[in-house]
Amino acid sequence: GGYGSLNGTMQAFLSEVQKDLAQGMLSPRVLNDPDIHRAELDRIFTKCWVFVGHVSEIPSPGDYVLRYVGEDQFILARDEQGEIQLLLNNCVHRASPVCRAEKGNTSHFRCPYHGWIYKNSGEWNGAPHRAKAYRTIDTARWGLRKAPHVDSYQGLIFACLDPDAVPLREYLGDMCWYLDVIFGLNEQGMRAAGDPHRWIVPANWKSGAENFVGDAYHVQSAHSSLGDIGLIPDNSKSVTETFHIALEGGHGLIAIPKALPEPFGVGNYPPEVTSTFDLDRLDDDQRAFLESGYGVVGFTIFPNLSLFQAPGSTEVGGFPAVNTSLRQWQPRGPEQFELWNWPMVWNSAPPEFNQASYDAAVFSFGPSGVFEQDDTVVWRGGPMVGRSAFARQDMKLNFQMGLDGMSDYEPRPDWMGPGEASTSAFGERNQRRWWQRWSEALASS
Ligand code: FES
Repeated sequence: GGYGSLNGTMQAFLSEVQKDLAQGMLSPRVLNDPDIHRAELDRIFTKCWVFVGHVSEIPSPGDYVLRYVGEDQFILARDEQGEIQLLLNNCVHRASPVCRAEKGNTSHFRCPYHGWIYKNSGEWNGAPHRAKAYRTIDTARWGLRKAPHVDSYQGLIFACLDPDAVPLREYLGDMCWYLDVIFGLNEQGMRAAGDPHRWIVPANWKSGAENFVGDAYHVQSAHSSLGDIGLIPDNSKSVTETFHIALEGGHGLIAIPKALPEPFGVGNYPPEVTSTFDLDRLDDDQRAFLESGYGVVGFTIFPNLSLFQAPGSTEVGGFPAVNTSLRQWQPRGPEQFELWNWPMVWNSAPPEFNQASYDAAVFSFGPSGVFEQDDTVVWRGGPMVGRSAFARQDMKLNFQMGLDGMSDYEPRPDWMGPGEASTSAFGERNQRRWWQRWSEALASS
């Protein structure tokens, strides 16, 4: 049955989801239902702060790239005043896309249909035969539709389509602390190593978001072949040594104690990279986090931005170059998503290190990456079971790991950072919280 415009049936389903989550269960319907999908676009992607790019992708006035918030296409532009704008890529005359290039530099966009012209700040700037065709037109009214809020933190640009949005820093909350220790290690910061890689995955976008918020448990199984050939030196560590940090707002991280011995230093970077860091930018607790050897291997910022960061190489026994990728799970209907993947490199690092880091990033989580293919194969089950007439009757997925002392999963004592850290990754608390946040966002008006 359809849920229509979030009527009583949908509300009832969402309260069932919340009750199920408290007992460590979830209906597989959430992974393919078209009405849930429509509600996500209307209620999550228009209300939350959504990642749209990195400042390094549009450094100069006139630079632009095409981006998505949910399934809506936008132009992310740096206007002539240097301000970042997010403009719906649809003409307000007859809705034609005004920009047909993926990226470029321009001061104006000219609609291909009838030729209306807009500034890169979105304002209406003219039309062919204007004196005859539009002797009067309210130019202030007929600009491109603009996201009401665009802001950045540590170079990551987010937009919110809700005029009543809370500020970005408030939305990110304690994730800011962790973004500082990942991206804020010096003034120069990181940059996108190139355009994002993009590919279609036959699975629901939430499978990716949920995986990166806490699922270290799958590594020993889904990625076991990488352990077999020695590419992950000790595959069992991926779950026995990693742990979770749960934050307010549905955000969460997977972290790890020191992975590499001397001379590798903070963040598992080699000396030629750590020598370019300026840790005085951080507070005492943030420095303690890094100097204790902790690192973040993954996170999800609700709803659909994740990060992967780990030492890696393209051959067994190769140099372990830390590689960092931002990954975004872009919905494309309920049964597909488009994965956008941005390998990131340090502006301050030697080019040879950045090349090794980029190669490792592509080798692991690029479109043909050895980790990537393992994940996208298993996530296909979501749409399958969501579509299954038999499963839809009453099947529930198990989210019980770590519930009420049911596993080896305790609070980590003396945690120096914000959030609730665990002793291991033998729990699904971060995933349950992500889904809890998801259900609350869908249920809110
Ligand atoms: Fe753009 Fe007519 S649709 S000018």
